[in-house]
Parts: sequence; structure tokens; C-alpha cells
Amino acid sequence: MYRTHNCGQLRMSDVGANVTLSGWVQKARDLGGMTFLDLRDRYGITQVVFNMDDNAALCEEARKLGREFVIQVEGKVRERSSKNLNRATGEIEIEATVLKVLNAAKTPPFTIEETTDGGDDLRMKYRYLDLRRPLQQSNIIFRSKLAIETRKYMDSQGFIEIETPFLIKSTPEGARDFVVPSRLNPGEFYALPQSPQTFKQILMVSGMDKYFQIVKCFRDEDLRADRQPEFTQIDCEMSFIHIEDILNTFEGLAKHLFKQMIGVELHEFPRMTYDEAMTRYGSDKPDLRFGMEFVELNDLAKDKGFSVFDSAELVVGICAKGIAETYSNKDMKDLTEWMQRPQIGAKGLVYVKYQQDGIKSTVGKFFSDDDLKAWGEKFGAEEGDVLFILSGEAEKTRKQLNELRLEMGKRLGLMKAGDFKPLWVIDFPLLEWDDETNRFYAMHHPFTSPKIADIPRMLNGDHETMKSLRADAYDLVINGAEIGGGSIRIHDRELQSKNFDLLGFTKEEAEDQFGFLLGAFEYGAPPHGGIAFGFDRLCAVMNGQSSIRDFIAFPKNNMGRDMMIDAPSHIAKAQLKELNLDVTVKPE
Ligand code: AMO
Repeated sequence: MYRTHNCGQLRMSDVGANVTLSGWVQKARDLGGMTFLDLRDRYGITQVVFNMDDNAALCEEARKLGREFVIQVEGKVRERSSKNLNRATGEIEIEATVLKVLNAAKTPPFTIEETTDGGDDLRMKYRYLDLRRPLQQSNIIFRSKLAIETRKYMDSQGFIEIETPFLIKSTPEGARDFVVPSRLNPGEFYALPQSPQTFKQILMVSGMDKYFQIVKCFRDEDLRADRQPEFTQIDCEMSFIHIEDILNTFEGLAKHLFKQMIGVELHEFPRMTYDEAMTRYGSDKPDLRFGMEFVELNDLAKDKGFSVFDSAELVVGICAKGIAETYSNKDMKDLTEWMQRPQIGAKGLVYVKYQQDGIKSTVGKFFSDDDLKAWGEKFGAEEGDVLFILSGEAEKTRKQLNELRLEMGKRLGLMKAGDFKPLWVIDFPLLEWDDETNRFYAMHHPFTSPKIADIPRMLNGDHETMKSLRADAYDLVINGAEIGGGSIRIHDRELQSKNFDLLGFTKEEAEDQFGFLLGAFEYGAPPHGGIAFGFDRLCAVMNGQSSIRDFIAFPKNNMGRDMMIDAPSHIAKAQLKELNLDVTVKPE
């Protein structure tokens, strides 16, 4: 037997018992006649003591152990003289009588403790060591429990879990596909699914009624902290439902998961239209943990002789509370430079400080104190507050101000950990016009239904009308992160064809790519709709983190590389040939 107990199990009630433990040597300390070891496994750390006076040979053996050696220890549980109450096993220790080295280890390249000195790349290269750290292990355990709780809830609601294939045909969700060459079909490729979208719709045509799947999705897109090229969704679809049914069902899922996993009761899930979110926060995923809502100043700030504002489509600002006296000119300059970085691209930043000794502003020359007071009133500003104001083309300016709002929220500590503010954003535009490629793109995906009231305009309207169509599409946002997105689908062949048409597909292209779906719609497709939650993002948000990597056992870096197995990599010529790909394209 390797062990009678694990390393997190023994307590005062076990004192006197003979036990066997196995695990990794986290740390060894020699104190004169005694050697202390911290023995670690997934469950915790137990202190083991070797006494020179009792067994000199064994103590010598223990002194030779290096960090991360895998050992087995037999001994008696005894009460510790100096207790460590921060550790579950901290009141006891094992007086060792037998020591067996199960495997030696090289010195690890970084410390394997709660905090580590290892940089990102090193930790990823040695992910098996990184994953020994308690924090990483608890993230992965959290993820496992979240999946189990998801299945429990979905099962309780009558959903069935159905696997869909990974080797499929391209499904456009806005990103590039990863493709896989087919050996048996020379020159042809599968695509890895960006989501199981078309399959879950087909399952509704098959009468499955309520489908879900915890499923890997693959998207070849630029990576960020909250984006991985392969990630996991809780993917769902339901038949004979309206938007209300979906929002209620998945509010239920979110409530269940927050309660079971972190003991948080989510109460309200307010709803906001896309237009409202953009006007009030400049974002379709506003963080509602704090206010700092946008206030538009066109009526008070234009036509007063300040040409920057006069020529702007929109003058809009936010009010930061209580920083007028503490934010120095240098702070303001730094903030302005931060806004002018190419990532944000603001031309400048106007501020108004309501200080004890008067109003100070970058535009004091152009506006009287009365003007600036009137602005303050519109914002509800008080003494001590600062207004930050941007101007320019409306859409762009709102996006820039959103960045500033989030930055100020962060700097002022308004994004409180443990505070969770969910929000449904609804009524997204159906289509997005892109000036560069001169065509429409589906804002969600091409299978999303316009709102019923907008269908006549979609069928008969002109080009401009198409820009104003609204979709029955919704996102679940929590604390400024897009956790889920979905829509009611088109289930009528004619309307689906019209949508493909608007998206620039010729009849042949639509038939070639989606003939199977259009065909299925001719055999009795029920009204249906669904949603997918980003599973990795949900893990991160529930733990107050912004990076999803820590919740994925083997994540990729920002270049899409797996540093541990060193993928992607070149493949052998013979393999290329077998796949009918005997040209290696070398990177430029
Ligand atoms: P969507 O594309 O909005 O919808 O994706 C659903 C959710 O998946 C998460 N997500 C990601 N997470 C990590 N890395 C990524 N690269 C990544 N991309 C997306 C987000 C997002 O909200 N088929 C539709 C769903 C539907 O209509 O039912 C879909 O995939 O949290």
C-alpha cells in the first residue's frame, strides 16, 4: 500500500496512529539533530520529522532528498510543539520510521508553491510542475466541479447531452477555421468547429427538443487574455421557445452555478438593449459593478466657440468622484497620454475639476465658470469630482470613453472582487456593415433571426434599412465579460436564403456550404433558439480573474503555441505526401 492517508487528511484526532503517506518533497529543513520535510500532494501538506537521536541512518537518508522527490514515509502521528494554524494539518506531524524514495527528481526550474518565481513561458513549458501548485490545482478542480454542476442543472431541466463531430465543414462564426487535410479525399479538408451551431439546429429538426453539450470549439483568431484558439462552451439549443424561455432557463443555470460553486445568490438580471448599452456605456458588455455612466454634452458644449467640440458629432463624458484634489496635473497628463496611445486613439482629453478653490479645466479659456457649472449639474458632479470629456465621431468616441471608464473604474477600486453584476444585452443589430470589404457581416451568426417585427423590412427594405434591422440575439454579460451569447434562429428556408443573400453569398455558395441545413428546414424545422456560455470565461469570472489560461490544464500562449509539447510543428515529408500536401510552406 502506497498510503493509508493523503497529505491533507491527518488531524489531532489521529495522534498516536501509525500511518503511511506518499507525495512530493516540497521543502526540507535541517535543524541540528532534526530534519523536517513538507510532504505535498493534491490534498495538502503534512510535516514529517526525522530525528538524528532516534535513527541517524534514516535522518541521513532524509537529508539527501531534493525538492520534488517522490517518497513514501511510514511513521507515527504526533502533536506538533509549534503549531501552524494556517495549514489544515498544521497541528500534527509524522515521526518517520521508514523512508522509501519512489522516484528522484531534478531540481525544478521554478518554485512550486502558492506564488512562484517562474515566468509565463517557463511555467507553460513545465506545465506538469506548474500544475502541482495548489492554486493551479484548485483552479482545475473548480473547473471539474463547474462541469459537474452544469450537467446536474441541465439534466434537471430535461436537456440531453449529445456529442457532435469535430471533423466538419466550415461554420462561419466570424473567425478563421482550423483545417484538417483528409488523406482519403485528396485535396479536401475538414474544418474544426468554431461551434456546433449547425449541428445543434439540425438536432432540433430531429426532434431532440432540448440539447446541451460541454464542448471544445476551435477558432483561429488573435489571442488575448480571455481568448484561446481552443476553448470550451456550454452549448445549448431548445425547440418551441421564445426569447423569454431561453433567458429564464439560462438565468437559472447561472444562478445555480454561482450558488453551488461560490455561494453567491444572483438576484436580478437586468436587460438592456444594445443601443442603450452603447449610449450609456459605449460597450455591448458594460461592467455594472460601478456607475460612471456617459453623459452627453452636445446641448451645453457645442456652439460656444471651441472648434474641437463644434465640429464633433458627439461631446460626451464621465464623472470620476472625489479625485479633483488628488489627481495632479501630471496624473492628468499621464491619463491623456494613455488615451492617446494607438490602441485607444483619442485625440485629446478634456477635463473639468471641481476643486475647493474653484473650477479648473483644460477648456477654461473657452467656457465660463457658469458654463462649466452647468456641465457639472448635468453630470450630478459635486465638489471634489472630475469630468473627463471626449469628442468626435459618435461611435468611435463612445468606444474610447468606454476604455477610460473601465480604466478609472480599475484605478478607483470600483470593480470589487466578490461583487457580481449580470446583465442581458438584447436586440443586437442583425447585420454589421464593413466599409473595407464593402459588405454586411452577421453580428451574431448567419442563422440568427431578425425580430419578427423587422421581417417585412428585411424582405423589402433598401440597403440603409438593412443597417437598422434588429435581431433576436442576446448576450449574457457578467462584470464586463461576455459570458454567453445566443439567438432565436431562422427556421424558414426562404428567410434563411434571404439572410445568406444579404451576407453576400450567391445561391450556389449558400447551397454548397449550407445545403444540408436549408434542406433540413424543408422537412419540418420547429421554431428554435439557443445560447452558448464560454465555459473557461465563466470559470475565470467566478474567480474574479480576467485570464482564462489558469483554468485550462494545457493552454496555448499568445502565439497559439503549446510550449510543453512544442506545437504547432513541422511534420515529416512522408506524412505531408500521404496527405497530398507535399509542399511545405515556410513562414516568410
Ligand atoms: P459566440 O461566438 O458568442 O456564440 O460564443 C459563445 C461564447 O463563447 C465564448 N468564447 C470564447 N471563449 C474563449 N476563447 C475564445 N476564443 C472564445 N470565443 C467565444 C464567449 C462567448 O460568449 N454558436 C454561438 C452560440 C449560439 O448562438 O447559440 C456561439 O458560438 O464567452
